[in-house]
Amino acid sequence: MDYFRIQGGRRLNGRISVEGAKNAALPLMAASLLTTGRVKLTNVGPLADIKNLGSLLERLGVAIHFGDDDTITLHTSDESCVETPYEIVKTMRASICVLGPMLARRGRAVISMPGGCAFGTRPIDLHLKGLAKLGAKIEMDGGNIIATCDRLKGATIFLGGPNGPTVLGTANVMSAATLAEGRTVIESAACEPEIVDLANMLNRMGAKIRGAGSPRIIIDGVEALGGCEHRVMPDRIVAGTYAIAAAMTNGDVTIDDFPYDSLLAAVNHLEEVGVHVTKVNPNDEDARCSVRISSNRVLRPTIITTQPHPGFPTDLQAQFMALLSIADGNSIITEKIYTERFLHVAELSRMGAQVYRQGSTAVISGVRHLHGAPVMASDLRASACLVLAALAAEGETTISRVYHLDRGYSGMERVLTSLGADIERCKETKAEPAEDAVPAMLPSIRGAGLTSRAAQEPLAKTEGN
Ligand code: EPU
Repeated sequence: MDYFRIQGGRRLNGRISVEGAKNAALPLMAASLLTTGRVKLTNVGPLADIKNLGSLLERLGVAIHFGDDDTITLHTSDESCVETPYEIVKTMRASICVLGPMLARRGRAVISMPGGCAFGTRPIDLHLKGLAKLGAKIEMDGGNIIATCDRLKGATIFLGGPNGPTVLGTANVMSAATLAEGRTVIESAACEPEIVDLANMLNRMGAKIRGAGSPRIIIDGVEALGGCEHRVMPDRIVAGTYAIAAAMTNGDVTIDDFPYDSLLAAVNHLEEVGVHVTKVNPNDEDARCSVRISSNRVLRPTIITTQPHPGFPTDLQAQFMALLSIADGNSIITEKIYTERFLHVAELSRMGAQVYRQGSTAVISGVRHLHGAPVMASDLRASACLVLAALAAEGETTISRVYHLDRGYSGMERVLTSLGADIERCKETKAEPAEDAVPAMLPSIRGAGLTSRAAQEPLAKTEGN
């Protein structure tokens, strides 16, 4: 298993560009199930999750060609298979995004129920409710969801849940509705830019979708969709992660293909803590542009609450916590999307961060310096948080289990090295650490008052996401 060795304290400097978004590419790839036409996606990084979904789609009769130039061509040649194997679904929750397209086109889909993940239960009730509203019959059998239908029928669907809209649920229902008979209206739809990217590609395939990016999406069903070529939007979370890396190392980094309009909440918080975020061409009104991130290291504290888009994204919460751990004062982060998404707290504390958690809120008392330590990655964004902390820390940090990072950041060590970081990927030669060493969610603190992480032993075990 690979691990990173990072010598902290190097100021990052230089220019990088942002890769295509994993969370946009996954539903786009799944949408290839809606047609027997050829779908060509460009700007798709060689990420583990992309390869995993590729394997799943191949099992579902899609021929896939991965080009050398970050392109993928998908071509459905056999529509007879409707079953998704648990071995693949369990490795990646996003496998659920094949459900809507497969059902709409093949009239039947059997998919293993995705389990919980490292940061909570992650239900899919809203996906199922939406598809049932379109006329699907949904049954559960032996851990599988069995969805069947004749042609789906348009309907008005309220898709909001207790924590707001659902991104992949919206993707599933919107994709399925493109082939339904009549009009579908999704109310309380997710407004994330990845949904807009999917709607744009589906429209290019012949769908009739209006309103994507707003809470109401209207889809007029069509008889069939064709192939298309589509460039995947840049990854706003990757862009945000590297911006924070520049800020935490007192750096000066220009980021090309920065999805500025999709990152306004994060840009706002960067500016609030004292980071300079400057468009290289001030008149640039493109949704993506070149942005210069620089910082003089006097970081101020702030208050962050994660929310559905356009609010502050949960997928940048862990990375911002690393930043705020060296701010000059007390910050507060409240996690409203995944209230248990605090796996990074325990490991960050090993590096000297002062974080106190109570339920879905964490108070971060900024320290002057983090210090290097051996730490363990536990999920994708928690791992990114540890890399950021290590870049700014004094001394050496080793981060094990970096396969989590490979799910969402292609060649992170190469990108950071190009900016002057001292980071190397190494091969684990000794035996894996004992299971008990797996970092775990901090239990919620009961009762009044805040308790430090050290007082919260023992920690419960969790599985990866
Ligand atoms: N929820 C329900 N019922 C559902 C679905 C979701 O109650 O049927 C709840 C969830 O428990 C959560 C909230 O609704 O509290 C939002 O979940 P959502 O369905 O939007 O999450 P998702 O679509 O499964 C995507 C991203 C996540 C990202 C979330 C939120 C992909 C592949 N995944 O997940 O990305 O955190 O939206 O923005 O697009 C990551 O990249 O690290 C990651 C976890």
